[in-house]
Amino acid sequence: MRKILIAGNWKMNKNSAEASELAAEIAQTLGRQHEVDVVICPPFTALESAARAIENSGVKLGAQNMHPERSGAYTGEASAEMLRHLFATYVILGHGERREYFKESDEFINQKVLAALNSRLKPSLCVGETLEERESGKAFEVVERQVKAGLANVPADLADLVIIAYEPVWAIGTGKTATPDQAQEMHQFIRGHLPALLGEAQAQRTRILYGGSMKPANARELLRQDDIDGGLIGGASLEGRTFLQIVEAAAEVSR
Ligand code: PGA
Repeated sequence: MRKILIAGNWKMNKNSAEASELAAEIAQTLGRQHEVDVVICPPFTALESAARAIENSGVKLGAQNMHPERSGAYTGEASAEMLRHLFATYVILGHGERREYFKESDEFINQKVLAALNSRLKPSLCVGETLEERESGKAFEVVERQVKAGLANVPADLADLVIIAYEPVWAIGTGKTATPDQAQEMHQFIRGHLPALLGEAQAQRTRILYGGSMKPANARELLRQDDIDGGLIGGASLEGRTFLQIVEAAAEVSR
């Protein structure tokens, strides 16, 4: 009932020419397939060239961050409206790397979520515990706080745009994946909090993606879990072949 979503988070990789090439490879292979929702998230500087490359396909475009204000004196930032103007329809918010290296707080991330919704961008709110938090038995507490704070005050009529990504920090770019059981346990826990935040009916419709070393070899098993509705792929999205293999695995799981 929830359509699988596979999103590629290219992080700070690919200049505009390289992005155009990778985006074109993905778009040409997938064409207008509609079994799986597929999104690519290049850096800001490559949004325009990637948008052109996927123009006649079903592949959608997302950004990796944005500022909550519409415009103003925020050197180095980009607003939701600017992203929309480049045909982005998704935006990754609160990624673990932004929380860690750029000290983004839950409150600031919440402002971004609300601003994205206001501009009708689909925010993908990232949550996840560090290794230390998991080992000290705090994983659930931390993720609960991030989900509640990140989704505070989401207007009921925009709740269907919200996407959540569970990305345990210890699994991001490390080659260590959460086991399907570990991931499912957390996804189910997150879904349990959604009725209060997004409404009872919406809680069952909201997609919760898994991220953290997802690759062709483990995608099927993860995506088969009841509450895992897609993947946010970093490393394995930088090559057309591996990203497309994950999309194929997702299509198989959804048949
Ligand atoms: P990874 O990154 O697939 O390289 O672990 C996932 C992410 O950070 O979104």
